[in-house]
Amino acid sequence: MENRPQWGTRAGFVLAAIGSAVGLGNIWRFPAVAYENGGGAFFLPYLFALLTAGIPLLILEFTIGQKYRGSAPLSYARMNKKYEWLGWWQVAISFVIATYYAVIIAWAIRFAGFSFSLKWGDDPEGFLFGSFLKLADNPGDVGGIVPGVFIPLVVVWIITLGILFKGIKKGIEIANKIFIPALLILFLIIVVRSVTLEGAAAGLEAFFKPDWGQIANPKVWVAAYGQIFFSLSIAFAIMVTYASYLPKKTDITNNAFITGFANSGVELLAGIGVFAALGFMASQAGVPVSEVVAGGVGLAFVVFPQIISEMPALNGIFGSIFFICLVLAGLSSLISIVETFVAGIEDKFKLSRTKAVLFGGGLAAIVSILFSTNGGLYFLDAADYFINNFGVALAGLVEVIIVAWVLRELKNLQSHANSMSDIRLGSWWKICLGIITPVVLGYMMVQNIVTNIK
Ligand code: PFF
Ligand code: NA
Repeated sequence: MENRPQWGTRAGFVLAAIGSAVGLGNIWRFPAVAYENGGGAFFLPYLFALLTAGIPLLILEFTIGQKYRGSAPLSYARMNKKYEWLGWWQVAISFVIATYYAVIIAWAIRFAGFSFSLKWGDDPEGFLFGSFLKLADNPGDVGGIVPGVFIPLVVVWIITLGILFKGIKKGIEIANKIFIPALLILFLIIVVRSVTLEGAAAGLEAFFKPDWGQIANPKVWVAAYGQIFFSLSIAFAIMVTYASYLPKKTDITNNAFITGFANSGVELLAGIGVFAALGFMASQAGVPVSEVVAGGVGLAFVVFPQIISEMPALNGIFGSIFFICLVLAGLSSLISIVETFVAGIEDKFKLSRTKAVLFGGGLAAIVSILFSTNGGLYFLDAADYFINNFGVALAGLVEVIIVAWVLRELKNLQSHANSMSDIRLGSWWKICLGIITPVVLGYMMVQNIVTNIK
């Protein structure tokens, strides 16, 4: 316990937490989710979820990790022996996500190269069925390994495991100190380029136009909570693990606010950049913005290549910068998620770091090969759907119920955090976690089950 490694600086920890939070969820998930759920009106449930669930849970996870000084399973076990399983459940979710997230980063590496020479040509479907993924016609077909995906995937794992081998201070901290500033600069370049394109204003108008009628729709609230949880890497075991490497005294509450607002700031910027670019595309095609909107894989790998091809001068370079942003955002998140299960088995089986990275990281790398086959995208969709619908929010709900109601730990944790922070956690924090969040999340889960059955 005494020999646990530590972050070198407070900034190092905060950058690593921001690195975990800022990921593909910000760049391609947020803009489309906001647009589909009320546009400008989405900001209301989104802010509500951020302030009553996102940041309070971030404070909770930071405090648990810092106080109990262990990976998620160990920290929960130290809180109460009976609840080690909660940590392992979250670690398991993280493991599954890591295996497919790595593959998306591999695609982005490949596309950073393609962009440079605009190599995808005019074929927007090229990504899926053409020369790139060579996607199988039916979902049952695994097919062979696609070399164009497999090779960058190997690169992704070498970088990720290489950083993890080096440990917390010399590995994760240094990597984030490089990746995050680089990401912010490159991302700003993309956003500025995007908003100065012809038609950008129409795109922004489509994005921000509030559809207030949607506010009463439970689906919109589900989307807001889902986005906040995924985006802040909450209930993934990640933030508990990262906080376990904090020194004995540190301003947890303040760190959580910085992380939460930085993540949402990047999300807002991404919304602006993405919709300005979609506005450009719509104006080129002479159609309304609503006809070109896409999210997820389709946005980054089908729509963006089209936009980049149509852009004026230096488009190849801007295209590469966009995909490099995805790579940097993705890698800093992947590192955090692999660290959670590496740390989990390291603590549990008293392994050396090298062995834990080799076993944990190696196993994830091997499983991820499945997603680099001709059937890969089908498996990826299935895994992603399963995780988002039955994983993250449920794990978050169970977490708050156990901590707040079964173990009644909120008061202890509150005074622990307050003993070293400039920001006092008042009873608002306990109300958010003990009442508001479980009620809203519980309602969401029931709604989700009801609509899935229908
Ligand atoms: N917070 C991340 C995001 O917004 O993309 C979520 C995440 C996904 C973290 C995958 C880590 C990870 F490997
Ligand atoms: Na995020």
